[in-house]
Amino acid sequence: MTEYTVEFVGTGETIEVSDKETILSKCIEEGIAQEYSCRVGMCLACSAEIVAGDVTQPAARGLTDEEAEEYALTCMARPQSDLKLDRGKYPPSIEDEAGAMESEAAAADD
Ligand code: FES
Repeated sequence: MTEYTVEFVGTGETIEVSDKETILSKCIEEGIAQEYSCRVGMCLACSAEIVAGDVTQPAARGLTDEEAEEYALTCMARPQSDLKLDRGKYPPSIEDEAGAMESEAAAADD
């Protein structure tokens, strides 16, 4: 097991996360206010932009392959190096999800 330093840019928060645990689980343990919802890699609520470093997140099904290079779903992502993450930054596909939901809501109102 290897421990890596995860720094949340702009917040002054830093935690140590092993390569065997998810970033979100350590945030919850440490009282870091990381948003989340589904905890299964689908909703994107726990997204953070990867400013520096690498993660492994093969079960982050809510991200495209390209998005997974730039964003971490912290409920699924495990560090593979020291990291700098920008919490609350979401991949472009979240806009598609929101747009689809708005369209469905509008259709339901008709
Ligand atoms: S909490 Fe839903 S994708 Fe992480």
